[in-house]
This record gives sequence, structure tokens and C-alpha cells, in this order.
Amino acid sequence: MDSALNDRVVLVTGGTRGIGAAVAEAFAAEGARVALTYRNDEEAAERAAAGLGSERAMAVRYALDEPDSARAALDEVRQRWGGVDVLVANAYHRTGRRPAGQSFEQVAAAEWQATITDNLIATMALTQAVLPDMRGRRWGRVVYLSSHIVGHGRRGQETYAAVKSGLHGFARSLAWEAGKEGVLVNVVAPGLTRTEGVRQQLPAALREGERARTATGRLSEPGDVAAAVLFLGSGANGNISGQVLEVSGGR
Ligand SMILES: NC(=O)c1ccc[n+]([C@@H]2O[C@H](COP(=O)([O-])OP(=O)(O)OC[C@H]3O[C@@H](n4cnc5c(N)ncnc54)[C@H](OP(=O)(O)O)[C@@H]3O)[C@@H](O)[C@H]2O)c1
Repeated sequence: MDSALNDRVVLVTGGTRGIGAAVAEAFAAEGARVALTYRNDEEAAERAAAGLGSERAMAVRYALDEPDSARAALDEVRQRWGGVDVLVANAYHRTGRRPAGQSFEQVAAAEWQATITDNLIATMALTQAVLPDMRGRRWGRVVYLSSHIVGHGRRGQETYAAVKSGLHGFARSLAWEAGKEGVLVNVVAPGLTRTEGVRQQLPAALREGERARTATGRLSEPGDVAAAVLFLGSGANGNISGQVLEVSGGR
């Protein structure tokens, strides 16, 4: 299968660790040039980029919750490589877990509204800034990272689910908006994935409960998710657009 990614420019938000790092690695292995973004951990980002090869990768600062940072990040990528062919919107701005026992009504409106602004609206804005590059080349791929929670629901995840559901609807319509110019837009929705963060922060019992609900008997690895993103974000994807692909072991 030809991924047709040689020298294509891929922007992976949150590409320093977890799923984003696996995605950056997968695209680089196909000969793409990868700009991976970080918010705080510049050192980790520079290390990740160096690991992919200084000719092929660059680390760029981008913060979902700092609207001006999108333009600055894109300027850097365009200066070096001319424009973006593939956007993988992977980063998620977390605002902390809701304390156990707290109801949704107890969450301050400003807090959940900021979560929507800093994730859904910021991702729409980044898409808007990147699309002209793709339209200009009459080729582009956009992949949003969502979550299988959209389909299943989970107490305490109302705002997260609202953000991710919003991306599903946005992608479905953007596929129509840009499809005739060669831009394919899709969503990958992972189930619980064994990133370092998940292994360190989620209680073993919760991970085991999720694993037990999969048809395959195992949680996804970051590489499983990256493989789906790579396919949808590559030239191997010829005509799939507006779709949601779950990578959750059949959960
Ligand atoms: N892991 C899972 O089980 C799972 C399941 C379903 C869906 N997902 C989705 O998959 C995506 C990746 O998740 P992950 O678990 O791999 O993430 P992760 O390991 O927590 O990595 C997060 C990445 O996003 C960056 N980031 C964090 N806050 C940011 C902000 N405000 N602005 C810009 N970048 C920011 C981080 O950069 P710095 O380190 O520099 O701050 C880091 O590179 C997310 O959209 C998540 O919702 C994950």
C-alpha cells in the first residue's frame, strides 16, 4: 500500500508523548516531514523531533488555550516547509478531573465553557488557519482525535464528551465543505489507550475494567491508534471522508 506521504508536511498537535508521539513517528517512517507541537515540555519536544531526524522533524510551540499561538506555529512551519498537507489535531487541554461526588451542576459555568473554548473552538480555529494550504494544493487530510466516550458516555465526562462530539459533527460537515478540493476529513476515536499517562495516572482497577469490556481482550496501544490515523491521513486513503473510526478493541 502506497501512503503517498513522501515529503508531505504533517502537523501533529501534542506530538511529544502518548498517542501524538506515536502518530508523529508513524508519519515520519513513511517519509513525511513532521511538525510536532508541544505546550510546556520544549525539551521533550526537541528530543522527540531529534529522534525522528532533524531533516524530517521540527518541534513547534502551540497552546490550545492561547489563540495567537496557532498563527505563530503555522508561520514557523510555512517558513521552513511552505505549508501543511496533513493536520492531526491530537492535543487536548485538560482542566483537571471533577472531584468524585460532584454533580455537573456544581461545575462552574466558566470552567466548562473554557474547556469548550480551549478545545473545540481552538481546534476549529486551527483548522480554519490550515485549510488554505490544503485547498491551494488541492490535496489535504485532516484527522481529529476524539474518544469512544462519545458513543458510550461516562459520568463526569460531560464536557469532554461535548467537545469530542462537536468534532464529529464539525468533521462530517467540513468533509462536504472541502471534499471537492481533495481534502478528506475524518475522526479517530480511541478507547482507553495504554499511554504512559494512562498507565501512571489511571487506577489499575479502572484499566482492567476497560480491558475486560473489549472484544479483543486488550486495551489499545498508542501504535494501534497511530496506524488508523496514518491511514486516514495519508494518500492510501483515497475517498474516505466524514467518518469516525473507533480504535477500541471492539468495545
Ligand atoms: N490516552 C487515552 O486513553 C485516550 C483515549 C481516548 C481519546 N484520547 C485522545 O487522544 C488524544 C491524545 O491523548 P494522549 O492520552 O496521548 O495525551 P497525553 O499523553 O496527555 O499528551 C498530551 C499532548 O498534548 C499536549 N498538550 C497538552 N495540553 C495542551 C494545550 N493546552 N495546548 C497544546 N498542546 C497541549 C502535550 O504537550 P506538553 O507535554 O508539551 O504539555 C502533549 O504533547 C487526546 O485528544 C485525547 O482526548 C486519548
